[in-house]
Amino acid sequence: MGAAAYHARMTRVFSGVKPTGELHLGNYLGAFRQWSADQREFDCLFCVVDLHALTVEIDPAELRRKTFQTAVGFLAAGIEPDLSTLFVQSHVHEHAELSWIMECTVSYGELTRMTQFKDKSGSKTSVRAGLFTYPALMAADILLYDADRVPVGEDQRQHLEIARDIAIRFNNRYGETFVVPEVALPRFAARVMDLQHPENKMSKSEDSPQGTIDLLDSPDEIRHKIRRAVTDADGEMRFDPEGKPGLANLLQMMAAVTGRSVDDVVDGYEQYGPLKDDLADALDEVLRPVRERWELFSSDPGEIASMLDQGAEKAAGIASKTLARAKDAVGLLPRG
Ligand code: TYM
Repeated sequence: MGAAAYHARMTRVFSGVKPTGELHLGNYLGAFRQWSADQREFDCLFCVVDLHALTVEIDPAELRRKTFQTAVGFLAAGIEPDLSTLFVQSHVHEHAELSWIMECTVSYGELTRMTQFKDKSGSKTSVRAGLFTYPALMAADILLYDADRVPVGEDQRQHLEIARDIAIRFNNRYGETFVVPEVALPRFAARVMDLQHPENKMSKSEDSPQGTIDLLDSPDEIRHKIRRAVTDADGEMRFDPEGKPGLANLLQMMAAVTGRSVDDVVDGYEQYGPLKDDLADALDEVLRPVRERWELFSSDPGEIASMLDQGAEKAAGIASKTLARAKDAVGLLPRG
């Protein structure tokens, strides 16, 4: 059965998170919030992409711990196992297998143009080959599930474009096999910036402890970090991401958590102090239930393990069919 036949079904959503650093506000506003809305409307699969974590140095025990914690994070952020399929990437071997076919579809030149590879490899003396071929594995993740829609933050846009290019090239070369996925970015806060270095995106707290709001930060920590967020000296309330990146980041976050437009937020304040106070309150309101659910779910590891097991079972049922289609398309001889 070709990819076209799958269009008759419900829109399929796939997305993933790498279990490297602690989960932070960028993950929440860029990804999780979209996911929890999507699961009410679409057929959703969400994955802890542990194979991707091997592209950088990570202690094995730490990887296991973070894989589990990331799954807890999904639930805490409002992803419901009754509505969505949650699983761990390495539990479904088809990801690694399709990844090789993707590596043989994407070109070396395309991979060298990936800005995230340049950023992450630039200062290092030794770079793992997997960091370079990462977009091929990511394409495999998405294409295995015939995903129509991939909700991610802005930083993943280039990887999504290459996944689309790979799908189109493969279909042209071997016949209709994969669904070509669409990227879905959130309306606001598609790129949450670091509070201390607003020219950089918010990422792991290990790299910038005061610039990153972790999902589990206490109300005091949130308030402290927002109050100390870098703005500018002219004190003029205006949305100008180029000239006033720190303020623009705060305004976007406020719009994202309150559902107001950025213009509306700008109109509501004359000074930075009150904006920061209200933003800290609004963030706490959004993150408090996440902390509470985290407490609840992390107390039952057995339950999480069995949920992930069921998720992997369901995911493998879909992935095995797509992989068989792809292997057949490229001419790999089936077992007799
Ligand atoms: P990762 O683990 O770095 O991030 C997970 C999700 O969080 C979003 N995100 C942000 N959004 C807004 N502002 C930020 N500062 C911010 N930081 C992170 C990311 O855009 C992402 O949606 N390569 C991916 C994981 C992946 C994947 C996939 C995603 C592997 N396979 C297939 C989608 C589909 C990554 O490293 O995301």
